[in-house]
Amino acid sequence: MSSTPQGSRAQWNSRTGFILAAAGSAVGLGNIWRFPYITGENGGGAFVLVYLLCILLVGAPVMIAEIMLGRTARSSPVNAFRSLSSRREPWVGVGILGVLAGFVLLSYYSTVAAWAVHFTFLSLTDSIAGGSADAIKGLFDQLTGNVALGVGWQLGFLALTVGVVSAGVTSGIERCSKVMMPALFVLLLVLMANSFTLDGWNEGMEFLFGMRLESLTAQSVLEALGQGFFTLSLGMGAMITYGSYLSSKDDLTSASLATAGTDTLVAIMASLVLFPIVFTFGLEPGQGPDLLFVTLPTALAQMTGGAILSVLFFVMLVFAALTSAIAMFEVAAAYLQEEFGATRKKACLIAGAAVAAIGIPATANSQWFGVADNIVSNWLLPLGGLGVALFVAWRMDAALRRGEFEAGSRLAGFYGTWLWILKYPVPVCIVLVFLSAVGVL
Ligand code: TRP
Repeated sequence: MSSTPQGSRAQWNSRTGFILAAAGSAVGLGNIWRFPYITGENGGGAFVLVYLLCILLVGAPVMIAEIMLGRTARSSPVNAFRSLSSRREPWVGVGILGVLAGFVLLSYYSTVAAWAVHFTFLSLTDSIAGGSADAIKGLFDQLTGNVALGVGWQLGFLALTVGVVSAGVTSGIERCSKVMMPALFVLLLVLMANSFTLDGWNEGMEFLFGMRLESLTAQSVLEALGQGFFTLSLGMGAMITYGSYLSSKDDLTSASLATAGTDTLVAIMASLVLFPIVFTFGLEPGQGPDLLFVTLPTALAQMTGGAILSVLFFVMLVFAALTSAIAMFEVAAAYLQEEFGATRKKACLIAGAAVAAIGIPATANSQWFGVADNIVSNWLLPLGGLGVALFVAWRMDAALRRGEFEAGSRLAGFYGTWLWILKYPVPVCIVLVFLSAVGVL
């Protein structure tokens, strides 16, 4: 199952295996780190509602389109666009853009994942317990200021990612997702049960679900949409690649919805873990990226059992990050295999070296993170998503598209609705995001 010459392409062992791998890709730092802090920054409840609408009306339809593209073409994003359109058309650019976006994304994603590994280690060695807010801020500053330490953890994390991907689609990615995703869910449940016992639970619930429409701005709507793309791993070919290993008999539509649903559930659960803890100790949730690496440990440091909870939390975070990094890396690995006829191992080594080469400066230069995240999340991912939506809605062969949507699907009756959403509202929404990014809106 390693190298994939035409005709003997790897295939997931089961539909559940696919859903776990796709959910593994979707559930990541975006759910546990980004979602809670942007929800905090945008005032909670009303933002969550808009976010849910974005997932349902934009994210999920694009996810169906991506998985469909992969399964139809049975190839990586670049070749999927190539084989489903004619040579003279520019669609292939969407695939190429995706592969590039994946490299940039992994370069800073692994920086943050490395912080999670470091905090797991800090929790295990009891360095957090009892620490004051300043002391913990100091621990985080020490980490971001110590390039060798950050790069060390980052390379370890990347090596693990490369190792899993080079073991193959079923024996590496699927097997790993089957262990890590259920484990992640159990950890979340344990952490949520703990948060439920805290004084801050009600305040957390109220923050997350209470409607405060006044805190909702046009900017937060656009942020919700951007987060929708990011959290569902859309716009860079990851779902195309995973979809290319899906059996043509499986119900693609409901598998996509199951993936999007799991992702949303985890984002809500992670918030229900975090906000009660933060509120119980009178801290502020809207402090941006510091939420996980300063605010949370500060609260846990003061809590009975906080040391154990913090180990559980950061292990969960590492699992979430790892299954996502694996998906990002698989895009590059699959592309190199196909394009240059390399074996999976060789493709992984080359892609791994390339990721390390741009990842190390990413960790070393704290400015890169903000710049790269802005380029990827606000531009490349929505642009890729736009390309996928336009291609599938307006260019792809209609009979092929319908057949893929309906194959074995209980949701076949929604074909028309899905296509309409993909044709009009999705492109319009994405273009609005761009207009706002360039300051026209
Ligand atoms: N969805 C991931 C998260 O929430 C991040 C991500 C964006 C991603 N694009 C991706 C993961 C592509 C894998 C592949 O953290």
